[in-house]
Amino acid sequence: MEHNILVVGGNGLVGKTIIRILKSRNPHVNIFIGGRKGGKTENDLKIDVTDPVTFQIISDKKISLVILSVNDKSDHILRFAIANGIDYLDITKPTPDLVKAYHIAKSNAVHSRIVFSSGWMGGIVNGLVKTLSNHTEDIQEVKLFVYYSVKDLAGESSAHFMAENVAKPFIRYENNRQVPVRHFLDSEDFNFTFGIGKREAYNFDVPDLYILNQIEKIPNVSVKMTYNSKLITWLLGAFQKIKLFNILSLKERRMVFGSSGKGDQSVFEIVVKTNGGNKKLSLQSTKGQAELTALSAVLHTEELLRNFHENAVYFSHQLHQPLSLLEKLKAYETINIQ
Ligand SMILES: NC(=O)c1ccc[n+]([C@@H]2O[C@H](COP(=O)([O-])OP(=O)(O)OC[C@H]3O[C@@H](n4cnc5c(N)ncnc54)[C@H](OP(=O)(O)O)[C@@H]3O)[C@@H](O)[C@H]2O)c1
Repeated sequence: MEHNILVVGGNGLVGKTIIRILKSRNPHVNIFIGGRKGGKTENDLKIDVTDPVTFQIISDKKISLVILSVNDKSDHILRFAIANGIDYLDITKPTPDLVKAYHIAKSNAVHSRIVFSSGWMGGIVNGLVKTLSNHTEDIQEVKLFVYYSVKDLAGESSAHFMAENVAKPFIRYENNRQVPVRHFLDSEDFNFTFGIGKREAYNFDVPDLYILNQIEKIPNVSVKMTYNSKLITWLLGAFQKIKLFNILSLKERRMVFGSSGKGDQSVFEIVVKTNGGNKKLSLQSTKGQAELTALSAVLHTEELLRNFHENAVYFSHQLHQPLSLLEKLKAYETINIQ
């Protein structure tokens, strides 16, 4: 069967990387690139997510899967995919947007696979959690620790994510109770693997909080992050304490978070607590966050292409057998897992 795959935001950092990895592993698929400017080849489509009139070309080109790699706040692409029975994979949504989009999808009859993979690093954390315990019901607590280097490459949209969300409170879960918290507060010591060492890690909002509690029913879930620079991590905490982010404009917040480096490692670690004790999984992407996010999107795409998944709404980890996901990640050259 012919597979026509469209990556909307395909000119961006993550979108381009998705296309590179997808093409190299699946030379037979026909890949289209969607962006506001269009381009020179017939596979460059002029699509603006804010303007649904531009979506006609998605039907004209008989696209069977849309991968969304640019923020679409109004969920125009999601609604179009549902209305036209097109598979949809979305790596973009911060938690509140994900909850909204999930409810849109659940309240419609779907005739395609609608997949949300907005969790940390393209929605693989939840799958990896399941490799640490045979029964999710036995898990009492999941803690995710993120190491984020400001030297890593970051696209404009990714940088805007933090600027838009830093001043908003969010929810972590304690015995299924929703505890409102804010970014960069409540520090916790964590000893990171891969030579990083002991760091203070601070509150961080990623959709895995919602997915692990509300979907996977794990009673205690928290996520903490640290930057590569201890000074920056501490400063952001101090700014949050004095509520500086609340008075900065969005433009000013974008200046604080908007930098992109030349490339660095990205690391996350999952600690799972069961009656049997604690287990930890540590993952390092030596080529950084964009490479890992893109690889995850490709692994989800390959699941949709190769294996049977009925038409329904999914979180991306639900497409995979956890151990098979783990093996595929381990097999990738620039990923190390302990
Ligand atoms: N789930 C995760 O773990 C994870 C990790 C990293 C990033 N992300 C998300 O991935 C997305 C992409 O990040 P990125 O770093 O690749 O961003 P980026 O480099 O800014 O790329 C976004 C691309 O989208 C296109 N674009 C912008 N506005 C558009 C519009 N209205 N309609 C159509 N296309 C538009 C732009 O190209 P044109 O100028 O050609 O339009 C741009 O190249 C973001 O939403 C980010 O939050 C998720």
